[in-house]
Amino acid sequence: MNLSELAKQVETGKFKQHLEKHFPEDVALRLGGMTAAEIEREFKQVIQVPIRLSGEMGHELFELFYTASWFNLFDRLQVPADGMLFEIAAGDTVYIPKALDAYSSVAKYVTANLNKELSENFMRKTASLRIDIRVIQDDGIHILDYYPEGSFDVVSLHHAVNDIIQTIIANQEGIDTVNSNWWTIEPQMLQAVMAYHNRGELKNAAYGGFIGIIETLGKLLKPGGYMIFDNCTHEGYEKLGYSSEFHSAYIQLAREWIQEANLGLEEVKLEAYDSKWWMVLRKL
Ligand SMILES: C[S@@+](CC[C@H](N)C(=O)[O-])C[C@H]1O[C@@H](n2cnc3c(N)ncnc32)[C@H](O)[C@@H]1O
Repeated sequence: MNLSELAKQVETGKFKQHLEKHFPEDVALRLGGMTAAEIEREFKQVIQVPIRLSGEMGHELFELFYTASWFNLFDRLQVPADGMLFEIAAGDTVYIPKALDAYSSVAKYVTANLNKELSENFMRKTASLRIDIRVIQDDGIHILDYYPEGSFDVVSLHHAVNDIIQTIIANQEGIDTVNSNWWTIEPQMLQAVMAYHNRGELKNAAYGGFIGIIETLGKLLKPGGYMIFDNCTHEGYEKLGYSSEFHSAYIQLAREWIQEANLGLEEVKLEAYDSKWWMVLRKL
């Protein structure tokens, strides 16, 4: 979301409790003592293209940016306090469960996550949260085997369009994404996606699999429920033979493919959320 708006909220203490609970004491104290202009300047050092985590408080500001942005989305979209949220491909990133936990202690969170090692890390990292959390070690395409249609208020894809497409391509290339260490196979996956893209074959190879997942996730939502996507571009892609420019266009790629598939999801534009990096779809 918009950094100046977010900085103002941090200054007024909206995330004070969250900072005290989840961040090192010195970081919480430092951010707590800053003006909105100073906080915004700190955010701008990190939230850029590519994301810069190496500076002071880089990881904390990155986490705060996403947890606060998702928290504000739940607020703005009036997600019910006892709402159900499904995240596909969370890996071991826990920003959305933390945002949901801060939003309501009685909400329920479910993720489908294929990679074993990341799923185990995820469970460890969320063990202290108050909300009910379930990790399903399966492909998100099978989620209707676990929950009935129309049972979730929100479906989230945090920086996950890339993970889903990488996994589809990896399967076609015979790369094991379940039992491998994700970071060891990542260069191989990125290079494979790039090769398909450069040959003009990515859509042929990935559209069916990707749209199959989005259609399933659409069925999982209640009418009026939201499917929310975000994306960001990290440093170091070019070194791996991968393109930052290609990665930065993933939301637009998803938007075009989803529109073409005509799945009964309409886009909702939210002022503080840049549509290059965010997409909010509402189930009709
Ligand atoms: C690097 S983690 C991504 C974490 C998070 N999306 C982020 O960027 O911070 C990638 C995870 O997505 C999972 N994944 C990819 N496609 C999936 C699918 N169709 N269903 C379930 N998990 C999937 C992988 O198995 C892996 O655990």
